[in-house]
Parts: sequence; structure tokens; C-alpha cells
Amino acid sequence: MTGSARFREAMGRFASGVTVVTALDGAGLPIGCTISAFSSLSLTPPLVLFCVGRDRFSHDDLTGSARFAVNVLAESQADLALSFARFDPERFQRNAWRPGKHGVPLFTGCIAAVECDTLRAIDGGDHSIVLGEVTEVHLAEGEPLIYSRGAFGGFLGASAPGFVSAPAGAESPPEWLLSAPW
Ligand SMILES: Cc1cc2nc3c(=O)[nH]c(=O)nc-3n(C[C@H](O)[C@H](O)[C@H](O)COP(=O)(O)O)c2cc1C
Repeated sequence: MTGSARFREAMGRFASGVTVVTALDGAGLPIGCTISAFSSLSLTPPLVLFCVGRDRFSHDDLTGSARFAVNVLAESQADLALSFARFDPERFQRNAWRPGKHGVPLFTGCIAAVECDTLRAIDGGDHSIVLGEVTEVHLAEGEPLIYSRGAFGGFLGASAPGFVSAPAGAESPPEWLLSAPW
């Protein structure tokens, strides 16, 4: 395996949630891209970031838009993830959504979404890192869609074989973990 293939393999072993980041283009039309490179950044102020490839069709609109929304996908939304990971001109017709406070699309069925004001885009090699300040938070019931090594799955949580709710010998539930900001 070459150095770059090993790097990809190693990164693929990092499991993540899946989001579709949406915005409006210069003509006010909805755009979106499936993004797993998403993270919370700061609690005070509430900041998030996502990384978008420079060669993505939506790159310039996602980095240049004054606002964006991050839709956190539910376990049942792998089709939505795939729809926004390839060319699909019907994707905003086939997937139910409503406009957020400033018109940016929020998809039905997501377990969470945040609407953000774009702060800035930073160079990140062949990707751009987009920072946003959270202005609206939406929550709904459901379990997250998980992505790792090129495949989708669900979060097993307490039903996973061998699941332990606390390190051996620690109190359960661990208060420090429950009160942690992340
Ligand atoms: C699960 C999953 C996660 C992805 N995460 C990212 C990501 O974090 N950043 C990125 O630039 N592309 C990511 N992609 C790839 C883009 O979604 C894909 O290239 C998409 O076609 C880009 O759309 P566009 O070229 O129409 O903008 C991901 C794809 C999948 C299926």
C-alpha cells in the first residue's frame, strides 16, 4: 500500500456521523453536499466547522455563502447522503425539506440541524475549512447515521456486544463524562 493509500485507509477507520451541508447559491437556489468532515469547534461562542473539497461543484457556493445549515442525518437517511454525494438534479425535489430562518434548506427526518452565519473559509490543502457561528438549533428523535471505511451503519450504543458504560472500577454513570461539553 502506498503512503497515500495508507493515509486514506487510516482515516477511513475513523468513524463519523454524516451531514448534508446546505446553503443558497448566488441565484437564491438551494445547494447541498454530503459532508462527514464536520465538527463542533467552540461552545462560547457556539462555532462549528466543516471541510469541503476544492474540486466539489458546490465548493464556491458553500465557502462564499453568508449562511449555511448542517443537517445531521438519521440512521435511516443513507439514501439522502448518497443523493447529495453524486450528481442528482432532482435531489431537492425527492427529499422533503423546509426553509430555515433565512431560507437555507433543513431536511425532514434529520436528528439535528444547526443554522449558521459563515465566519470565514480557511485554506486546508485540497479542501477549504469553513467556520460558522450557530444561530439556530433544531433537534428531533432518532439515532445517527454512522460512516466508516466507505460504509454506512448505525450506532449500537448500549446494545453493542461488550458495551461498558464506564471504565472498569469507575462509578457508573461517570459524572465527568455526562457533564463534559462534547
Ligand atoms: C459519507 C460521505 C461523506 C463525505 N464527506 C465529504 C466531506 O467531508 N467533504 C467533502 O468535500 N466531500 C465529502 N464527500 C463527498 C461529496 O459528498 C461528493 O464529492 C459530492 O458529490 C460533492 O458534490 P458536488 O460536487 O455536487 O458539490 C462525502 C461523501 C460521502 C458519501
